[in-house]
Amino acid sequence: MQMPAVTERAAGLLAGYGPLTPLPYRIVDRRVELEDVVTLSVAPSSAPSVEPRPFRHGQFNMLTAFGVGEAAISVSSAPGADGPLEHTIRDVGAVTHALCAAPVGSTIGVRGPFGHDWDLASVDDGMDVVVVAGGIGLAPLRGAVRDLAGRCQGRAGRTFVLVGARSPDQILFPGDLEEWRAAGIYVDVTVDIGAPGWVGSVGVVTVVLPRAPFEPANTVALLCGPEIMMRFAARQLVDQGVDPGRIRVSLERNMQCGVGLCGHCQLGPLLLCRDGPVVTYGGVADKLFMERNR
Ligand SMILES: Cc1cc2nc3c(=O)[nH]c(=O)nc-3n(C[C@H](O)[C@H](O)[C@H](O)COP(=O)(O)OP(=O)(O)OC[C@H]3O[C@@H](n4cnc5c(N)ncnc54)[C@H](O)[C@@H]3O)c2cc1C
Ligand code: FES
Repeated sequence: MQMPAVTERAAGLLAGYGPLTPLPYRIVDRRVELEDVVTLSVAPSSAPSVEPRPFRHGQFNMLTAFGVGEAAISVSSAPGADGPLEHTIRDVGAVTHALCAAPVGSTIGVRGPFGHDWDLASVDDGMDVVVVAGGIGLAPLRGAVRDLAGRCQGRAGRTFVLVGARSPDQILFPGDLEEWRAAGIYVDVTVDIGAPGWVGSVGVVTVVLPRAPFEPANTVALLCGPEIMMRFAARQLVDQGVDPGRIRVSLERNMQCGVGLCGHCQLGPLLLCRDGPVVTYGGVADKLFMERNR
């Protein structure tokens, strides 16, 4: 009997893969966004061939840098968009460094997608959507905003994108911000520390919230960034009249299995890989934020 080729045997094994098996994806493009942030475009490896899995806005994959480890990284492209799957990664440690340094043509592992999404399907026509992002927190929201731009152009509802960055040279996706403005989205950016030539706001993102002309009683808010930013932004949105049950925040904890088995991502009663990362502020995240502050 003739033995199948190695790639055929690997494909056979992968055909029965489960959520704990990283699938081989090839890096087809690598874009340096900022000094320490890289976007990797990846496509399923052709040998052995694997089928890409559908994902929803705000979900994450576990990416493997072979020989180094795995990290949870949100998908930064939009579901169903043309082109490869994108992940935008900040180099903060061993795994993210290896991923950011991986050259075009090399192979990484991808397993997922995991977690709850931003649930844009539940946003009724006519409602305002307020997106508040800090730093790399814009990456998990980028796909959602791209689709919200289409909603604005179709006059189904308004979108407001409020972004906080450390300094002007740390503003993520400046090209997307311009495209979103051109599509009719209200975009406001603030920086912690200004620089010569910067004419925008200086201060935390809560500084720009009050002047955004959304209708609080008719608003859904999506928040992603440092926890302290989300805490203050959510509180301010509530003070401005937004229903806490309509505010969604993305919570991050160190993830290992991604599927609710290991307990590494536990926060209060939640396993964030399974019950998050996107959770409602009112009645869920507000209580967790309070517990952490005790
Ligand atoms: C659901 C989810 C989605 C994420 N999406 C993205 C993304 O789109 N882009 C991106 O760059 N990063 C994202 N992260 C964060 C990313 O997973 C961590 O930065 C990464 O695991 C760090 O691994 P490392 O080995 O490079 O660094 P490590 O050596 O493990 O850590 C480096 C530093 O980062 C801290 N750290 C590690 N993990 C986290 C975490 N989850 N939250 C906060 N601090 C952490 C450590 O305490 C340490 O100070 C996401 C995390 C989660 C849970
Ligand atoms: S990462 Fe293992 S339970 Fe969530």
